[in-house]
Amino acid sequence: MSNHFYVTTPIYYVNDKPHIGHAYTTILADVLARYHRLLDVPTWFLTGTDEHGQKVQEAAVKNGMTPQEQCDTTVVRFQELWQKLEITHDDFIRTTEERHKTIVRKALQDLYDRGEIYGADYEGWYCTPCERFFMEKDLAEGGVCPDCKRAVNKLVEKNYFFRMGKYQQWLVEHIESHPEFIQPAHRRQETLGFLRQPLNDLCISRPKSRLSWGIELPFDANYVTYVWFDALMNYVTAVGYGADNGTFAKWWPASYHLIGKDILTTHTVYWPTMLKALGVELPRSIFAHGWWLVGRDKMSKTAGNAVNPMQMCEQYGVDAFRYFLLAEMSLGNDASFTEEAFTNRYNSDLANDLGNLGKRVISMVHRFLGGKFSAVVKPGPEEAELEKMTTIAVDSMKKHLASMQLERGIADALAAVREGNRYFDKMAPWALAKQGKTEELQRVLYSSAECLRIVSGLLYPVMPGKMAELRRALGLEGAEVEPHLETLGAWGGLPVGRALTDVPPLFPRIEKPEESPEAKKAAAEAAKAAKSAKKAEQTKASAPAIVELIEITDFTKVSLKTAKILAAEPVPDADKLLKLQIEIGAEKRQIVSGIAKFYTPEQLVGRTVVVVANLKPVVLRGVESQGMLLAAKAGKELRLVTLDGDLPSGAGVG
Ligand code: ME8
Ligand code: MG
Repeated sequence: MSNHFYVTTPIYYVNDKPHIGHAYTTILADVLARYHRLLDVPTWFLTGTDEHGQKVQEAAVKNGMTPQEQCDTTVVRFQELWQKLEITHDDFIRTTEERHKTIVRKALQDLYDRGEIYGADYEGWYCTPCERFFMEKDLAEGGVCPDCKRAVNKLVEKNYFFRMGKYQQWLVEHIESHPEFIQPAHRRQETLGFLRQPLNDLCISRPKSRLSWGIELPFDANYVTYVWFDALMNYVTAVGYGADNGTFAKWWPASYHLIGKDILTTHTVYWPTMLKALGVELPRSIFAHGWWLVGRDKMSKTAGNAVNPMQMCEQYGVDAFRYFLLAEMSLGNDASFTEEAFTNRYNSDLANDLGNLGKRVISMVHRFLGGKFSAVVKPGPEEAELEKMTTIAVDSMKKHLASMQLERGIADALAAVREGNRYFDKMAPWALAKQGKTEELQRVLYSSAECLRIVSGLLYPVMPGKMAELRRALGLEGAEVEPHLETLGAWGGLPVGRALTDVPPLFPRIEKPEESPEAKKAAAEAAKAAKSAKKAEQTKASAPAIVELIEITDFTKVSLKTAKILAAEPVPDADKLLKLQIEIGAEKRQIVSGIAKFYTPEQLVGRTVVVVANLKPVVLRGVESQGMLLAAKAGKELRLVTLDGDLPSGAGVG
């Protein structure tokens, strides 16, 4: 672990109110910051808002405000949401602040003086919604924006350019020699793929005639700075770059810039080359997470399906919302948000597992032990599994924190809770009480409480409010309420002689609303329509009897499962084969697959695929293969069967 942890979120545009995507990145940063603080690593957490540029100017016009008024009213929405979500940022930067603008101007002047920025006539195509210029050759088919696929306008004008192109080779080498620089691995490949094309210089100015809302160029008052050049600089201006060398040396380089996958190029190409030209060290790592979809759809204003985080918190509580977002998204992949998924996970993980164990332990301590433990009880053989699962959870959280797979750390914490419930049922403390076995009773309740103490510590950064409540209920006081991650796992840490408090249920079950008669009728009709469509399909299929028809029972013999590829390597002396290490839920397996001609190992790692999970193992070229990967083949083309959104590994396919 390095000696400091500096984490950033993107600075969000103030053209509209925040939605679940903004909430997600900020909660993720918050959870990482909180974990590092609990590890006693000096931590700095920066978030903020991106207040210049076309989008903000347009929103201002639409709302009948000045751009500054637009910023000042919208920034409050973000600040209020962060407060509601218990975000513990150390600083909030707004790009309209003087501390930022001054340094951006200074940097621009410096680059201009050293010839890193030059003026030139420029002919290109401009995409207004994306605020980006493109060369003719970069346009998508039909001459539209390669990013958003909307129409672009032709422009010829004088502009200023940053000599980005000359850093291409250097950047490729940096990315290749620093595997941690762009994470996860498939995003690194994406940037390297982008850098296979020649890298152009970057237009960093906008004529005021077209856009006036921005930082004026220090060397030409007819222009403002391109919003991305301005925005990216926030990561250094906020920690004293060019103004306070001591502070800057303390926090820079950043440990993580967290971003969504939408802004990968700006962060992994523009930003590092800008820093290189300025002579500033690069951030250690840029981590791009996946997309929150709503069901299967992209969230968008026009679809009106954006999830409102404020409303989610009001309805279900901040902690449950934070928990869901972190537990549900496998970091780096897309995830789907639905109320149903939320309710299911809440009820199973929080209400049934964690909440239930908490309630049972505390209420029985009251009923049978007069509300307090009288002695620390050492675990015996009966507690071996519980102790083991809890210890695993602690190690797992630390490990997955470092590898940015928080959802796995969380899953292991919940596995310990489930073991806690199993242990509790098996030991049946209520029966021990009846039989007067007080010593055993003490041991069972104390051990269950220990499991809760440790797990509540592990989940504390994710659910600070509820976990503090649980820890206080267990008798922890004052500074003990905040866990110390390094010592958390030592069994026997729960102090005795303290009064446990009876708490209201931490996570009351969400009862699903009774279906209305109309909804029931609609569902029945939809099912009927689906059935007749299927029948028609079957008749059609049976006409030219090309393939032999099978019974559904034949099909269900095949166990298809989603699997995540953890590692991939060539099989020696077999140019078609790759050896893959995969994960199917909690299970790890090895599969040999004949796809080496179509995929490189790097393209595979991290992907979720579909495998036949109940195939008898075979040995191929001396390597055991425990299953088969599904792929589609047409002529010389082969494509893996993947999912249309993200699901955890181990999910049934059928
Ligand atoms: O791009 N799923 O700001 P922005 C997950 N100002 N995350 C999402 C998301 C979704 N559906 N939608 C948005 C900008 N995000 C620039 C950034 S940084 C120097 C300048 C999150 O308001 C995700 O973090 O469009 C994404 O990168 C960010 O919001 C974009 O926010
Ligand atoms: Mg955006």
